[in-house]
This record gives sequence, structure tokens and C-alpha cells, in this order.
Amino acid sequence: MLSKLVPASLALLAHGTAAPYNTNSSLRMNQIQVIGTHNSYHREISLAEREIFEKYVPSPESYYYSHSSLPNQLTHQAIRSLELDLHSDEKGGLYYPPLIWTLSNLTNATTPFDGSVLLKPGIKVFHVTDFDPNAVCHTFVDCLTQLKEWSDHNTKHVPIIIDLELKTEAPACDAGGVCPGEATNWTLPRLLNVDAEIMSVLPRKQLIVPDDIRVGNLSLEESVLQHGWPFLDDVRGRFMFFFDNDPSSDPNSPAKLYTADGHESLQNRTVFTNGKSPRYNVNLCFPPNERRTIFISL
Ligand SMILES: *[C@@H]1O[C@H](CO)[C@@H](O)[C@H](O)[C@H]1NC(C)=O
Ligand SMILES: *[C@@H]1O[C@H](CO)[C@@H](O)[C@H](O)[C@H]1NC(C)=O
Ligand SMILES: *[C@@H]1O[C@H](CO)[C@@H](O)[C@H](O)[C@H]1NC(C)=O
Ligand SMILES: *[C@@H]1O[C@H](CO)[C@@H](O)[C@H](O)[C@H]1NC(C)=O
Ligand SMILES: *[C@@H]1O[C@H](CO)[C@@H](O)[C@H](O)[C@H]1NC(C)=O
Ligand SMILES: *[C@@H]1O[C@H](CO)[C@@H](O)[C@H](O)[C@H]1NC(C)=O
Repeated sequence: MLSKLVPASLALLAHGTAAPYNTNSSLRMNQIQVIGTHNSYHREISLAEREIFEKYVPSPESYYYSHSSLPNQLTHQAIRSLELDLHSDEKGGLYYPPLIWTLSNLTNATTPFDGSVLLKPGIKVFHVTDFDPNAVCHTFVDCLTQLKEWSDHNTKHVPIIIDLELKTEAPACDAGGVCPGEATNWTLPRLLNVDAEIMSVLPRKQLIVPDDIRVGNLSLEESVLQHGWPFLDDVRGRFMFFFDNDPSSDPNSPAKLYTADGHESLQNRTVFTNGKSPRYNVNLCFPPNERRTIFISL
């Protein structure tokens, strides 16, 4: 049986007639399940930093895990959703050197990565300011560039949904680290830097943005409720971003600033936010039978 089927399917492939993706074309993008990672960029600190880390951070062992590079997660681990922690750094250098490097007496020869990347202006990607700075990509633009390159070589991938958490902590101020200020305050211009950095790397056709979802003069929520999310096959090869911070529980949620003054339905914005309606809230409230993402929390 097998010996008959194998040559038949090879013949189909040889003639280019086999459908490469066996999905129902009426399937919508929210009707699939994918596997995602949490803190997708995270690399654990080096052994030389553990003494200081364990002095300052409660439950330190829960931070001792490392993810593969983003392209390796996509290629070898079938990951299709990611979570990135963003830290504003307009001038560059705000998070350099991480206090843990200084307290651990690291030199340029012994830091786990070349810190000069932290001196460049632009949004940084890492877990905890001053204490947990290691990552597979250190700037948002570098992470996005790696994702774009992967997507350019895998153009039919299902949309990759990226959860962006805007970080606002400054836990080491008293010990000589970063203090509250830019590190804890996502003003509107800083939020718009997130949009600008995404658009500096990903062309419009590789994105799903709110303007793609809104229909006529309907609000974003009404559009989703009345017309649904796009068909899966229409949004292959694209990325969609949303802000993790929940406006109902997180005082640092960007939702108010980001949706004010004519942007109530995220007009001309790049990132989705949490919403009230279960079907509009891309983060938490997909109906259970349409659940989009299983986050692996390490
Ligand atoms: C595709 O999905 C639609 C809607 O769920 C369903 O009515 C249809 O029968 C499906 N077609 C196939 C070929 O599975
Ligand atoms: C770093 O160096 C100082 C000064 O030599 C020393 O007192 C301290 O114990 C060292 N810290 C670590 C974590 O090795
Ligand atoms: C260590 O690296 C940083 C970042 O590249 C650089 O600014 C600094 O001059 C270097 N320090 C030494 C002593 O080489
Ligand atoms: C954030 O910065 C803005 C603009 O500088 C300022 O008006 C606001 O008070 C700051 N908010 C906090 C919580 O520091
Ligand atoms: C929205 O558009 C529809 C049809 O284009 C129109 O009939 C309706 O009056 C508009 N509603 C508002 C509030 O502008
Ligand atoms: C849309 O956003 C871009 C980038 O932030 C900005 O340059 C442009 O002026 C905005 N357009 C409108 C109509 O708001």
C-alpha cells in the first residue's frame, strides 16, 4: 500500500500540483491553535553573575532558562507566537552597563555579550532592568530584522502574533542602577517609537494592522464582531503585534495614550491593544474553541 502511495505523491509534487498547505480556505486566522513562547528572547545570566543575582532577586532559579534564537524557535520548534519585553531607550546607554555586571566585577572580556549594543539609541529587549539583561537579540530592531529574514524565506507561514510587554521597572535604583524616569514611563512619543521601529523593518504587506481590520466607519470592535478576523490564507507571511499590558489591571497600560485623540479604533496605529470585547481582545479572550496560543511559560 505504502509503496504505491509514495511514488504517487512524489509524482504530484514533481508536477507541482500538490497543495502545499492543506487548510480550508474559509478558515479564519483566529480559528487555529499555535504554540508560543514567553520571554521568547531570554538567555540566562552567566555563572559569574549568580552570586549577585541571588543576593537581589527572589526565586532566582525561576530565571535560569534560555531560549533558542528566534529563527531557530520558528524553524525547529514550530513556534508561531512570541513574547518580547520592551524597554524604552531614546538616547541609548540607559541600561548600560547593567548593574549586575558592575557588582559582579565583569570586564569587557567576561560579559556574556558585547555591551556596546546597549549604547545604541532605540528600544531594548531584555527581562529585568539591571539584573536580568541577557537575550538572543538585544534591540527590538535586531529581533525584528531576524524575524523578517526568516519570514522572507518562509513566505507562507501562518501569521506570527507577537505579544509586546512594555516594561516599567527600575528595581536597582537604590543599589546604583537605573532609576525611575524613561525606564518607567512610556509617554506617547515613546509608544510611537514602537510603531516606528516595527515599520522601519517590516513593510506594510508583512503586517496585520488595525487599519486592515476596520471596515468603513465601524469601530475596530464592531468590525471584528460583524466581519470577523481575516481569512488565514489572506494573512500568511505576516506579523501582528499587540500590547500585553492590560488596561483593567496595569496602571502602565499604554491603551489610553495610544488610543486617544482620533485613534480610538487604533487608526494609523501598528500595534493592537487589549479591549473589552472577548472577540476584540487578542490577548486573553478568544473563545475557548478558537484559542490561538498556548504560551509555554518556562
Ligand atoms: C470548510 O469550512 C467551512 C466552514 O467551517 C465548512 O462549511 C466547509 O465544509 C469546510 N470545507 C471543507 C472542504 O472541509
Ligand atoms: C568585586 O570586587 C570587589 C573589590 O575587589 C570585592 O570586594 C567583591 O567581593 C567582588 N565581588 C564579587 C561578586 O566577586
Ligand atoms: C568596554 O566596552 C564598552 C562598550 O563597548 C566601551 O564603551 C568601553 O570603552 C570598554 N571599556 C574598556 C575598558 O575597554
Ligand atoms: C511621564 O512623563 C511625562 C512627560 O514628561 C510626565 O508628564 C509624567 O508625569 C510622567 N509620568 C510619570 C508616572 O512619571
Ligand atoms: C456609516 O456608513 C454607512 C454606510 O456607508 C452609513 O449608512 C452610516 O450613516 C454611517 N454611519 C455613521 C455614524 O457615519
Ligand atoms: C500616521 O502615522 C505616521 C507614522 O507615525 C505619521 O507619519 C502620519 O502622519 C500619520 N498619519 C495620520 C493620518 O495620522
